[in-house]
Amino acid sequence: MRKKIIIGNWKMYHTLNSMQEFIKQVESITFSNIDAGIAIQFPLLIEAKKQIKNLMIVAQDCGFEDEGAFTGVTSPKLLKEIGVNYVILGHSERRNIFFETNEMINKKLLKALKNNLNVILCCGETEEEYNSKITKDVINKQLSTGLKDVDIKDLSNIIIAYEPVWAIGTGKTATIEVAQEICHFIRQYIKANYNSEVSNQIRIQYGGSVNSENIKSLLSQKDIDGALVGSASLKSDSFIKLIS
Ligand code: PGA
Repeated sequence: MRKKIIIGNWKMYHTLNSMQEFIKQVESITFSNIDAGIAIQFPLLIEAKKQIKNLMIVAQDCGFEDEGAFTGVTSPKLLKEIGVNYVILGHSERRNIFFETNEMINKKLLKALKNNLNVILCCGETEEEYNSKITKDVINKQLSTGLKDVDIKDLSNIIIAYEPVWAIGTGKTATIEVAQEICHFIRQYIKANYNSEVSNQIRIQYGGSVNSENIKSLLSQKDIDGALVGSASLKSDSFIKLIS
């Protein structure tokens, strides 16, 4: 039985003060049957690790080397040292705004795994690709390059998040059928390229305009093991609804 995992992706929202307000509201919430966490800006990570006991602390990106002359980049080794649980890699905003390629994402992923960080690898098609009915080709390419050279034993440290780009921040959630179909396709990809045991174990999230209204039906699907949630995770009351 795969444990559900719900991560709030705060993107470039929240300050130290507003995070502390958020923590006050959520710190007494107990939940045992799901994993929950927040993906926050780098300067908040250390304080969040100190203050938050019931949520996993997630970074939104990392570099592809442990150290070096990479101005503005955060080291995966440092993220591990400060106790970060997961790092999101290949989010569509990283791909589209910061021109990250599948090859670059693969380098980051291999380095993150080497540092014993868990990874949430995002994939998903643009609206144009969706309309051209090439979603599966796009996902196939994102996974084959993104997971290149990943050893089967490391798959237990990876979550794959299917996030159709046209559904992110738009209020246009993929239908339950589409979300399930593509998450199933991802599981089949893992089965074909690794084996059925790991494909049964790997957790696959859906992301894109998830909110407290649609989360239950999305999570009831056979191949959807959680959600990556942007705007609906920012306010504590809305976040609490997602995880309870
Ligand atoms: P959204 O963002 O829930 O606001 O659509 C999801 C994401 O970008 O991970």
